[in-house]
Formats: sequence, C-alpha cells, structure tokens
Amino acid sequence: MIPLDLTGKVALVTGVGDDMGFAWYIAKALQAAGARLLFSVHPRLMTIVENILERDLDAESRVLPFGQGELKVEKLLPCDVSFDTMEDVDEKTRADRRFAKHGDYSIQGLMKGVAAHCNQLDILIHSIAFSPEIKNKAIDTTRKAYLTALSVSAYSLTALLRAGLPLMEGRPGGASAVGLTYLGGDRVVPHYGGGMSTAKSALQIDAMQLASNLGPKNIRVNLISAGPYKSRAAGAIGDIQGMIDYAASRSPLPRGVKAEEVANAAAFLCSPLASAITGEVLYVDCGYNVMGL
Ligand SMILES: NC(=O)c1ccc[n+]([C@@H]2O[C@H](COP(=O)([O-])OP(=O)(O)OC[C@H]3O[C@@H](n4cnc5c(N)ncnc54)[C@H](O)[C@@H]3O)[C@@H](O)[C@H]2O)c1
Repeated sequence: MIPLDLTGKVALVTGVGDDMGFAWYIAKALQAAGARLLFSVHPRLMTIVENILERDLDAESRVLPFGQGELKVEKLLPCDVSFDTMEDVDEKTRADRRFAKHGDYSIQGLMKGVAAHCNQLDILIHSIAFSPEIKNKAIDTTRKAYLTALSVSAYSLTALLRAGLPLMEGRPGGASAVGLTYLGGDRVVPHYGGGMSTAKSALQIDAMQLASNLGPKNIRVNLISAGPYKSRAAGAIGDIQGMIDYAASRSPLPRGVKAEEVANAAAFLCSPLASAITGEVLYVDCGYNVMGL
C-alpha cells in the first residue's frame, strides 16, 4: 500500500479555535495518518478548545476519519501570534486577565513549550487569519487594521518558522509547514477587505521565500488555497454563504469544498509522498480558480 504514514511525527497545529475550522479537520487527518498532536490556541479560546476535547457532547467531533479512533491531543499551548516575545505585549493585553493567566503566550513561549514537551517538530500547520476591519473595502481600511492583518495573518508564518527552526531542522525525512491561503490573495474578491487580501498575497510570496530559505535544512513550506467555507472566521467576512454558492455554481466540480478535503490535502503535503513539493500553492477549491467566467 502507498505510504501516507506520519507515525512518530509531531505536529503543531496553530489556529485551533473550535471544531469547525480547518485547523480541527487538519489535526484529525494528521492523526489518522499517525501523527502526534500539539495544539496552539489563542489565549482567549483555551477553555473552549479544552471543553471540545473532553466533553461527551462533542465526542462525535473527535472521531478521526478512516476509522482511526478518537482525537487525542498531547498538549494545548496558548499563543497570540501578534507577539514574538512577551516584551512585545502591549499594556492593554498585559492587563487582560484572560491573557495573563496563561503566563508566556508569545511565539517564543509556544516553542519553549514544544521543546519542553518533546523537543521535536516535524509538522507546523499555520491556520490563522485576522483583520479587525475585514468588512471594510480596501479603500476604507485604516493603516492600523491593515498592519494588524499583515502581522497576524502573514508575518506570523515567518515568526513561527524562525522560532521553531531549532526543533524542525535535522528531523529524519525532513520537516514540513503548511499554511492556508485564499484566492483573495491573487484576485479581487468583493467582501475580502480590511487588508486580508494583502495579507494573503504577502503570505504567498513569504511561503516561497521561506521554502527557499529553509530548503537546505530539508524543511518544506507549502500553502493550500482553500475554497470558501463557513468557519467562524469566514462568518465575519459578510456574505460567506453567497460566496460559497457563487463559487459552487461556477466551479468545474459544481459544489462547495469540504473541510475534510482541505485536511486530506494538508496530510498529503506533510507526508513523504510530497517530499519534492515546496514553495507551492495547492488549490483545494473544486477547481474554481481555473475559471475565467
Ligand atoms: N473559511 C474560508 O472560507 C477560508 C478559505 C481559504 C482560506 N482560509 C484560511 O484558513 C485559515 C483558518 O481559518 P478558518 O476559516 O478555518 O477559520 P477559524 O476561525 O477556524 O480559524 C482562524 C483562527 O485564527 C486564530 N487567530 C486569529 N488571530 C489570532 C492571533 N492573534 N493569535 C493566534 N491565533 C489567532 C483564531 O483564534 C482562529 O482559531 C485562515 O488562514 C483563513 O484565512 C479560510
């Protein structure tokens, strides 16, 4: 049988906030292939994710695909990717008890947590995006919101890889990072404002740069450009259902994309089957991106 085997690999999945987002499904696909899991969760969402991992009510969400049992996460690590170190944290955030109770919630703290737990990192999933003005058209976006979108949604991939590098280099078979992008980084998608389209463009060229920088260390960096999907973050965009229906009606495969399909593509990109693939954007969008009209 062809080996999509991640046994013995440690995967850090960032951007887990509930059991609907891409991160959750990607985590389940990686574990179904044998990976050990660590979650990085926004400090304000830690309790929500802890509950989903434990409650009977959410048992169905934890069922792994392909009959591989139940999701088991070894550690939840709080991280707000706006901060490289705790020295970067602004006064308002520092004073917020929902953050303070977690101690070090910077990217540096996250990677220290991974090092303390298992001292290896084979797979990094970047599934994070945010703009405080996502509903604003580009022309109406403030500088502050634009820079926040870039910092959280794009630069964070660079920051995570730099901080994670000592744990990722020298892994047997190499290491792999996969991030999530969207067609709005290539073309104009109405509703996709607030600096988010710029952030996705930046993320795409960054992934290529990082693939080039880290290739000699046998670390691969790829992105999945997913079709529109009704996650919590996408709900903030505005007419997400309209976007899904529009894409479905014009795609070669005339339907919306499923989170499981994005997750399966991520598992492939992280596996030895993709060992010569790096710096790529893989469109998992039912083919919508190839259409002219
Ligand atoms: N849903 C779609 O239609 C779609 C399409 C293509 C790409 N994507 C991308 O997929 C990725 C995951 O999004 P999703 O749609 O699954 O939604 P989601 O809401 O499940 O995931 C977004 C995550 O980003 C996290 N986040 C935001 N700001 C953060 C910060 N400062 N520090 C740490 N974490 C932070 C949130 O906590 C949340 O868990 C994003 O990069 C998104 O742009 C989504």
